[in-house]
Amino acid sequence: MTLQIVVGTQWGDEGKGRIVDWFSAGADYVARYNGGDNAGHTVTVGSQVYKLHLVPSGIIHPQVIAVLGNGMVINPRTLLDEIALLRQAGVDVSPRRLRISSFAHLITPAHRALDAALEAARGKTSIGTTGRGIGPAYTDKAARRGLRMGNMLDANFVEQLGEHLAEANRMLELLGAPPLDPEPVCREYGQYAAALKDYITETSRELHSALRAGKTVLAEGAQGTLLDLDFGTYPFVTSSSTIAPGALTGLGLGLDVAAGARVIGVVKAFQTRVGSGPFPTEVSGSLAERLRGTGAHPWDEYGTTTGRPRRVGWLDVVLLRYAVRLNGLSDLAVTKLDILSGLETVHLCVAYESNGRRHEHLEAGPFSLQSFQPVYEELPGWAEPVSACRCWNDLPSAARAYLDRIADLCGVPVRFVSVGPEREQMIER
Ligand code: IMP
Repeated sequence: MTLQIVVGTQWGDEGKGRIVDWFSAGADYVARYNGGDNAGHTVTVGSQVYKLHLVPSGIIHPQVIAVLGNGMVINPRTLLDEIALLRQAGVDVSPRRLRISSFAHLITPAHRALDAALEAARGKTSIGTTGRGIGPAYTDKAARRGLRMGNMLDANFVEQLGEHLAEANRMLELLGAPPLDPEPVCREYGQYAAALKDYITETSRELHSALRAGKTVLAEGAQGTLLDLDFGTYPFVTSSSTIAPGALTGLGLGLDVAAGARVIGVVKAFQTRVGSGPFPTEVSGSLAERLRGTGAHPWDEYGTTTGRPRRVGWLDVVLLRYAVRLNGLSDLAVTKLDILSGLETVHLCVAYESNGRRHEHLEAGPFSLQSFQPVYEELPGWAEPVSACRCWNDLPSAARAYLDRIADLCGVPVRFVSVGPEREQMIER
C-alpha cells in the first residue's frame, strides 16, 4: 500500500507538475484533491507542452487512472476543453482512465461572476484571485447549497441549476453586478451533464481498495501550503485545503491507508507569489527581472492560468520550516535550480528579525509578516549552467552546497532536483 503525496511548500507554482509527472511513471492512480481550474500545471514531454488546469497531469502516462477528487471544485467547460485537447495530443481520455468524484462541487458561470463582483467590491484590499469562481463555489459548499458533480446525474439537474442561478442573481444584484440569463446557462450545463455523466462516480472507495490491494496512489496537490485556507497567509489564500493532510479529506481516504505515506514537498529554488499578500523576501528591479524571465518561455514566471507576472524573491526557509511541519514532509524536490546559475551570490532567508528578536520559526503562523525583516545568509553562486546535469555530482559544488544548506536548515533531505523543464532534466539523489 503506497500513498504518495506531492504538495507545494510555497504560494503555488513550485513546479509540482513535473514532479508529479516523474512520480506518475510508477503510479497506478494519480488523484487531484483540492482546488479547481485556478491551478495550472505545465508538463513538457519532448516538443509537447501540456498546460493542465483540472485533469491530473499523470494522465499522460498510459497506465495511470486519473481521479478528480471530492475536495475539488470543477468547471465542466474547462474540463471538457481539456479532455478535447488531451485527445488531440493523442492521450487516451475515457471513463476507463478518468474518474470524477460525484462529491466534488460544480463551478457555474454564477460563481465566476460572483468572484469578479466580490473582488471589485474589495477594491484596494482585493485578494487578486484567479477569477475562476473558486471562492464562491467553496462558499456554496460550506453553506450547504452547492451543486455537486453527482447532481449532474439527477433527472431534475437543470431545475436545481435554475434555482442556484436565481439565488446567485440575487447576490449579484446586491453587489451591483449584472445578473445572468439562466436559460443559456441551463442549456449549456445540460449538455455538459450529458457529456460527463459516464465519468462521474464515487471515487473514494476505489482509491481505498487500490491502496489496500498494494497499488500506488499519487495525490497531486494544487496551489501551495501558504495558500491553504486555514494555515496560509489568510485572507490572501485560496479556499481549499492545499496541505498534504487535505489529500485524505479531499480524496476520502482514512488514516489506515495513510500510514507510511511518502510526502514530497516541492520547493522552488527561489520564492514566487501571484496575487496580493505578504512576501517578506520579495525583491525588485533587475534581480526580479532576472528571476522572473521575460515571459518568452512557458517556464518563465508568469501565471499559467492568468498570465500575470509573478512576484519573485529569495527562498524563505522560515516559511519552508512551517511547510515541513504542516505537511509532514519526507522529501524535498527543489525545482528551477537552473535559473540561479550565473548569480554571483545567492541568498537564503534563514530567520526573521523583529524588535531586535530573532525568529527561526513562525510562532503565530504567517499572518502578520509585515513586521518581520528577513535575516539572510549569503552563499557563493555558481557561474556554470546546470541544465545538462543528470546526477548529484554533475552539479557545481556551490549549487550542491546551496541545496545541502536548505536541507540542513529545515531538516528534510533534498532528494530531487530539477534543472530544466524537460522530463529528463531531473536529478534523483
Ligand atoms: P483563487 O484560488 O482564485 O480564489 O485565488 C486566491 C489566491 O490564490 C490568489 O492570490 C491567487 O493568485 C492564488 N492562487 C490560486 N491558484 C493558484 C495557483 O495555482 N498558483 C499560484 N497562485 C494561485
